[in-house]
Amino acid sequence: MKSVAIAFLTSLWLSILSPTFSAPTLEASHPKVGSTWKWYQLKGTKCADGSETGFGLSTYPNAKETVLFFEGGGACWDANTCYKLMTASFVTTGFKKELFESFAVPTLTTNRTITLRNETVANPYRKANYVYIPYCTGDIHAGDSVQNYPGANRTTYHHGFLNGIRITSEIAKRLPDTKRVLVTGESAGGFGAVLQYPHVQKRFPHARIDLLSDSAIETVGFLDSKPQWHPVVPKCKECNGIEFNSYLPGEALATPKSRFGALAWKTDTVLPLFYNVTDASFAPVITSYFQNVTQTKTDNAKTFRADGSSHVVGEHTYAKSSDGMVYVDWLNKFHSDDPSWTSAL
Ligand SMILES: *[C@@H]1O[C@H](CO)[C@@H](O)[C@H](O)[C@H]1NC(C)=O
Ligand SMILES: *[C@@H]1O[C@H](CO)[C@@H](O)[C@H](O)[C@H]1NC(C)=O
Ligand SMILES: *[C@@H]1O[C@H](CO)[C@@H](O)[C@H](O)[C@H]1NC(C)=O
Ligand SMILES: *[C@@H]1O[C@H](CO)[C@@H](O)[C@H](O)[C@H]1NC(C)=O
Ligand SMILES: *[C@@H]1O[C@H](CO)[C@@H](O)[C@H](O)[C@H]1NC(C)=O
Repeated sequence: MKSVAIAFLTSLWLSILSPTFSAPTLEASHPKVGSTWKWYQLKGTKCADGSETGFGLSTYPNAKETVLFFEGGGACWDANTCYKLMTASFVTTGFKKELFESFAVPTLTTNRTITLRNETVANPYRKANYVYIPYCTGDIHAGDSVQNYPGANRTTYHHGFLNGIRITSEIAKRLPDTKRVLVTGESAGGFGAVLQYPHVQKRFPHARIDLLSDSAIETVGFLDSKPQWHPVVPKCKECNGIEFNSYLPGEALATPKSRFGALAWKTDTVLPLFYNVTDASFAPVITSYFQNVTQTKTDNAKTFRADGSSHVVGEHTYAKSSDGMVYVDWLNKFHSDDPSWTSAL
């Protein structure tokens, strides 16, 4: 009886506090693209500067599908990279409502196929709820550590892993009707999506969880060289210790009824900078990783390689692979369980 009362009070409380539940769910017309994003500050989250952050949410009437989008923005691991070169975004500023509105919403309402609910393009996720998970921790959403880096006169909170867990738990509570989830992200957020995947599964135990990781590939040993973050990594059977590139195929093997995709440009123009290698020497790493993903025995992991040089495929709705596949068409096959879905090279 007591627990029923508590459950009732909790849902009442949620319905008062949460626009998600108090918003009319019987809207006659669909929400306009970009018009429904709202920011929620969330206790227990933390940016690198120690300040609290939150998440963005854009619900769709009666949606049973939810897209979790992990933002990208570089990485940092010492005083030089965090505060002098500033190779990670929002490490010194924190991330609150003002930044969400001035920085995130405008990018979420342009061509990002996955994050944009645009009915005039063939976006298979146009009727899903969208969650924006900001990136202000410099740690590819992997971290659980507090550092006082020599040469930096402030503390650095690499809290990205914990933020992901905290936000995902909150979303699972707010959107209990979710039957299908897409965990996705670009660049540092593409790493985050892969790293957080098993934890999203735990929070949505009755939903199917797919994964789409955009432009997130390591040179062997990169993650292992960042103990500063105390990275929290997936523990699946075929996930090989601290080798990031083993996680997506490992998760796919462990979850044969979901689909897993990896995206990249043939020549990635950003990742090599972080690994201090040339673009040309990184291209074979992409090829090798994509072969490994495609060869996953359960046949539920495929890749899309856009022909050209750039960074991040998801924003290029009509990017083409060398063999002529258009990205948004590949994405539709991914989403609809089309048996002809295959790696596009
Ligand atoms: C939706 O997509 C169409 C076609 O690509 C484009 O013309 C339009 O500007 C997009 N709408 C928004 C709000 O970005
Ligand atoms: C230390 O912090 C202060 C203000 O927070 C700043 O003005 C100063 O430049 C910093 N010094 C170094 C070495 O980073
Ligand atoms: C990058 O690699 C070059 C040689 O390939 C080396 O000389 C340089 O010190 C490296 N830079 C960093 C920051 O590790
Ligand atoms: C692909 O898999 C092989 C065999 O496990 C491994 O040696 C190689 O490093 C992987 N490629 C990449 C880029 O991770
Ligand atoms: C954005 O959408 C427009 C309209 O469909 C398209 O012409 C343009 O190429 C797209 N931009 C990118 C970067 O995909």
